[in-house]
Amino acid sequence: MPDDIFFELHEGLPRQNPGRDRYTRQAYRMLPQIDRPRILDIGCGSGAPTLELAKLSQGEVIGIDTHQPFLDELTHKAEKAGLASRVRAVNCSMFDMGFPDGSFDIIWAEGSIYITGFERGLRDWRPLLKEGGFLVVSEAVWLRLDPPQEIADYWREAYPGIKVVAENLQQVSRSGYRLIRCFALPEDAWWREYYDPIEKRIKKLRTKYAGNRDALTVIDAEQHEIDMYKKYYQWYGAAFFAMKKDDYLRFCACCPPNDHSI
Ligand SMILES: C[S@@+](CC[C@H](N)C(=O)[O-])C[C@H]1O[C@@H](n2cnc3c(N)ncnc32)[C@H](O)[C@@H]1O
Repeated sequence: MPDDIFFELHEGLPRQNPGRDRYTRQAYRMLPQIDRPRILDIGCGSGAPTLELAKLSQGEVIGIDTHQPFLDELTHKAEKAGLASRVRAVNCSMFDMGFPDGSFDIIWAEGSIYITGFERGLRDWRPLLKEGGFLVVSEAVWLRLDPPQEIADYWREAYPGIKVVAENLQQVSRSGYRLIRCFALPEDAWWREYYDPIEKRIKKLRTKYAGNRDALTVIDAEQHEIDMYKKYYQWYGAAFFAMKKDDYLRFCACCPPNDHSI
């Protein structure tokens, strides 16, 4: 039941994560020009970034996700946009993707690397990139040090892996990548296509599920997430990181070679 309500809150909305097409474009344009790249979009949801990548790149884009209704939405939208020949929606887990090493020019993951954890995602997905390939992810980050107790407690529960950007950057370089650039998503990325539509959906579902305690618990948790952002948006946000696979075998100087060889 809680999962059903969660998906009822999110299905059919423009996207499942803070973002906008303009920021997908901004991140894509940080990469050098590649002729018809092969792109993997991990945790693609209903595919807002997937479709934008197909338009931007003229290449082939595979979106993977574990929630079939999101993948069905992506397939439908790709057909409507005339992109069906270059966009494929695949139901598989990011923990077991089964693609051969060196399959992709670009791996993209908006708001989904938190599922593996930032550093594990960087390391696990690296072999799937061609030599000199690119990884672009967006991830929740602290924008300021020493956040107030209430929001620190909230994130400790929601995603203890949230870090300041400097820590993400250390993980980038010790996981076998060179940073190209990173940028923080502006506030409008949280509202226009994400929290605004969810708040409208919450209103409807509160009426539909009045008196249903399980459903209302899920709905309240979603509203609480939004309220936390309203109150503490100056303390945290999301950042895009664009990275190039570093082809040199390197070892982290401060750690045992066996743990950090890449
Ligand atoms: C925060 S959403 C991001 C969706 C999309 N990238 C976007 O920007 O709108 C995270 C997505 O990861 C998917 N997901 C969760 N666990 C997964 C897994 N193990 N493997 C692949 N996808 C997963 C969810 O179904 C959801 O669509």
